[in-house]
Amino acid sequence: MFITFEGVEGSGKSLQINRAQAYLQQRGLKCILTREPGGTDFGLALRKVLLDTDGCHREPWCELLLYLADRYQHLKEVIEPALRRGFVVLSDRYQDATRAYQGAARGIPMSEVEKITRLLGIIEPDKTILLDLDPEEGLTRARMRNAASSAAAAEGRFEAEDLEFHRRVREAYLMFAGQWPQRIHIVDAAGTPDEVFSRIKPLLDLWIPAAG
Ligand code: TYD
Repeated sequence: MFITFEGVEGSGKSLQINRAQAYLQQRGLKCILTREPGGTDFGLALRKVLLDTDGCHREPWCELLLYLADRYQHLKEVIEPALRRGFVVLSDRYQDATRAYQGAARGIPMSEVEKITRLLGIIEPDKTILLDLDPEEGLTRARMRNAASSAAAAEGRFEAEDLEFHRRVREAYLMFAGQWPQRIHIVDAAGTPDEVFSRIKPLLDLWIPAAG
């Protein structure tokens, strides 16, 4: 079972995916938590380049190719081997982020994103939790986090984009949920972490029922 968590900046993905892993492990399941960009050593180097706030211009296609390089390495080195060994794999962002950010928000036609993805043999997750939040609220949360942590601030490239950019990201995610209703489940990300996790837990129980 391969489950991804997606959402706009500040939607609380990282917190919720950690809770999901703890919950599944407590249920006795073998479960790994990984993320993009940066799920491998090579990917960590790419993450630094991708999220740096250097301000230098990048063509959307260059950005797309770097995210795909990160994903391909991640898939071969981490995700596919773990799935073969029977682990539940939880990934903090994956292919829908590329569709939303490099496709919808940066403007690369979706048909081209899909074409290159197919060429690389990038698999789809079994299930996706979309933490849906008003991007204005998400950006406020994310910028507060960046103000409190220099490590987070150094990765602020996307938080620096304007609200319109983040609105396109959110709209795209919601559109994908309509396009793939069997896979993508929208979870309201407003509220306390406990409230949000209480919306996620029943989905995990449904997708991974207790053995026996
Ligand atoms: P992430 O580590 O999830 O940051 P945050 O916790 O601040 O949301 O993701 C890093 C950034 O990378 C995020 O702004 C979205 C962007 N991104 C893309 O643009 N395309 C992609 O394919 C992926 C995986 C991420």
